[in-house]
Amino acid sequence: MQLSGFSMRSGRKTQKSSLKEDAGLTGRSRQALTAEPAAVNPATQPLGQFPRIRLRRNRAVDWSRRMVAENRLGPQDFILPAFVKEGGAKREAIPAMPGVYRHTIPSLIELATRAAELGIPALALFPVVPLERKSTAAEEAFRADNLCNRAVAALKKAVPEMGLICDVALDPYTDHGHDGLMQGGVIVNDETVDVLIRQALAQADAGVDIVAPSDMMDGRVGRIRDALDAAGYQRVQIMSYAAKYASGFYGPFREAVGSKSALGKGDKRTYQMDPANGDEAIRECALDVAEGADMLMVKPGLPYLDILHRVKQEFRMPVFAYQVSGEYSMVKAAAANGWLDNNRVVLESLLCFKRAGADGILTYSAIEAAELLSE
Ligand code: PBG
Repeated sequence: MQLSGFSMRSGRKTQKSSLKEDAGLTGRSRQALTAEPAAVNPATQPLGQFPRIRLRRNRAVDWSRRMVAENRLGPQDFILPAFVKEGGAKREAIPAMPGVYRHTIPSLIELATRAAELGIPALALFPVVPLERKSTAAEEAFRADNLCNRAVAALKKAVPEMGLICDVALDPYTDHGHDGLMQGGVIVNDETVDVLIRQALAQADAGVDIVAPSDMMDGRVGRIRDALDAAGYQRVQIMSYAAKYASGFYGPFREAVGSKSALGKGDKRTYQMDPANGDEAIRECALDVAEGADMLMVKPGLPYLDILHRVKQEFRMPVFAYQVSGEYSMVKAAAANGWLDNNRVVLESLLCFKRAGADGILTYSAIEAAELLSE
């Protein structure tokens, strides 16, 4: 809030260059005018004082609040994550995520159609892979007609105006539930990246618009970019899960896709980030930007708004937040108990992501929020 060329204390012009030549001023008056403006913290040194200044004036009525609002939510801010399962039977409810379903391909198409009608630009797809398709080497991940790729092809055909995002990570496909290959109890980096490349290429073949590496292996963004380009997929975008933390907030998601039982007591701390770290998130993002990421993501969402803000400030490129399953479930559980007003809290939390600097939010509330906004 420093006004250029003015010290907020004196309100007088203090630009050195013009004042140097300013004849006639001597002694203390000259000193005062040529001094660097003092650093002013607007929080403690407002641009005026009560009672002339009353911040409540702008807040008094609805039209005025709307007029001065710094951020606004719209359906274009949301990306809808959705689960798809095998089989033609009906969609299944996910107990830990009320209102979210494991879809069949036909019910997924209905969901995507509704999302498109509401103006939601993109859908992020997560397959629920049957146990018998999981393996140590995760070969299912790059099979051309695996569940994920069939769903992509069907969605692209039925709802071509909807952007499609696929996770690049092996956790739906490994029998141990980790995002990478395991050798001797260790998640091996470079061997995993070789498989991720094949997975991303198979997704591109199926027609995906954006690949989203969520595995947190080192160097994968660059190698995926090179592989996509070599295969002629220059237009396929990369949204990197650049700052993805080892978080307890993923619990309901792992139940939804069935990787929880596979993972057992294991955790992902050797590749996902330590919640204690902020500077490291900047390094992760810097590498992914250098390797060719088109967009960055910070995950989870609300507890990590400081990271989101820093990443946006630092890189000035599209940055997305993932309001993850546990965040969704907390709101739904509290609302079901009558402890929170669901609609109010859903819209408030999404707006807070925008204030922090998000260009968009992956949220299981995408449809309910878009509906609320269109009322
Ligand atoms: C898999 C993946 C996870 C999520 C998105 N992709 C879970 C994990 O890393 O264990 C979490 C999403 C959510 O909790 O909503 N790599």
